[in-house]
Amino acid sequence: MTSNQRLMERREQAVARGVANLHPLFAASADNARIIDADGREYIDFASGIAVLNTGHRHPQLMAAVRRQLDSFTHTCFHVMGYESYVELAEKLNRLTPGAFPKKSLLVNTGAEAVENAIKIARSYTGRPGVIAFDGGFHGRTLLTMGLTGKVMPYKKGFGPMPAGIHHAAYPNALHGISVEDALRSLEDRLRFDIEPEAVAAMIVEPVMGEGGFYVAPPAFLRGLRDIASRHGIVLIADEVQSGFGRTGRMFAVEHAGVEPDLITMAKSLAGGFPLAAVTGRAEIMDAPHAGGLGGTYGGNPVAVAAALAVLEVLESEGLLDKAERIGQRSLERLRPLQQSCDTVAEVRGLGAMIGIEFMREGVPAPDMVQAVVSRARDQGLLLLSCGMHGNVIRLLAPLTIPDEDLERGLAMLADAITAQEKAGLQPA
Ligand SMILES: Cc1ncc(COP(=O)(O)O)c(C=O)c1O
Repeated sequence: MTSNQRLMERREQAVARGVANLHPLFAASADNARIIDADGREYIDFASGIAVLNTGHRHPQLMAAVRRQLDSFTHTCFHVMGYESYVELAEKLNRLTPGAFPKKSLLVNTGAEAVENAIKIARSYTGRPGVIAFDGGFHGRTLLTMGLTGKVMPYKKGFGPMPAGIHHAAYPNALHGISVEDALRSLEDRLRFDIEPEAVAAMIVEPVMGEGGFYVAPPAFLRGLRDIASRHGIVLIADEVQSGFGRTGRMFAVEHAGVEPDLITMAKSLAGGFPLAAVTGRAEIMDAPHAGGLGGTYGGNPVAVAAALAVLEVLESEGLLDKAERIGQRSLERLRPLQQSCDTVAEVRGLGAMIGIEFMREGVPAPDMVQAVVSRARDQGLLLLSCGMHGNVIRLLAPLTIPDEDLERGLAMLADAITAQEKAGLQPA
């Protein structure tokens, strides 16, 4: 029995079943875009711990910043005694997020917590209860964010009742026949049939849908949301938890559309593997809740904040936004020909280095193909992640710091796995 198998047996005895494992592997060590498992096998990492490692595993600058922080203090609770780095990170996020208006920030621990707080802030500012979210969107696993999430399996099944006041509209999806006009009409319908606009506090949207399948919202859709939100005094929240921090070639994906949201939620690659999340937005909205209404014991932990400040430096000093563009271009160049050569590859799409490959068979989503390709690629030494409303999309989230040779090797392994699986048809890998 291998070490991975032994650990998997212990894990099955000790860890709750609901916490799924996407790969039957356990990590031993990792460096930049490579990770070594408990049996000493090396993998190229195209998963980045679900979009957390835009700056790679254990970037030396991050590690140095964290070590320095460990030697001074690791926790005070910002409410009990403040520290400069929290304020500095807030100042930086206020500057980096789109919009020239005055902004303020709040630091928390996870993406879900950032989303929960954005909704609390929007409700406090508007005095309204309602929230609009989108079909297929993912915003987290806590009660409120589960309610906002637009997919039943595996996120909502058996966990109801869902929180009140949430309404879902369609998200544009050209491949599946939903145009920008259809999606905006669906939103107008919600405001006509379900809830009056004067009762809606916020609309929350992913500029590139992440868990739902790496669908890029056309700029016209995001501009349409901005117009509707402004017209009705609704707070527009861009959930950039997965698409943020350079992944799409801009610091935030919403910038591609030239849209300025009122609030932005961030997490994942913000702190390169340390738990940290943030809400940044218009100062008058952020300041609506009374003193003591926001926060938490660990929010803005100083070790995670030190990592985040280093992430921001590395993104700039290593030109990682441009690198994201180059990774994206190269990935499309290498993988788009599969649309012609493999019947099941329906679309290779993306924004910057946020690339999705969608599999269909005769117009029907083909999640079996995704599972087989993911396991074939793993056997060759490439770690992949799936996503999608039907589980039929492979998403590429290589660290933006990945060396060219690792990127090329990874893309070659992926193309080989897809081609081999296409030839094998429905046989499992
Ligand atoms: C767009 C989006 N929002 C929120 C979340 C929730 O983040 P967390 O898992 O840190 O709670 C995720 C996680 O995948 C996400 O992709």
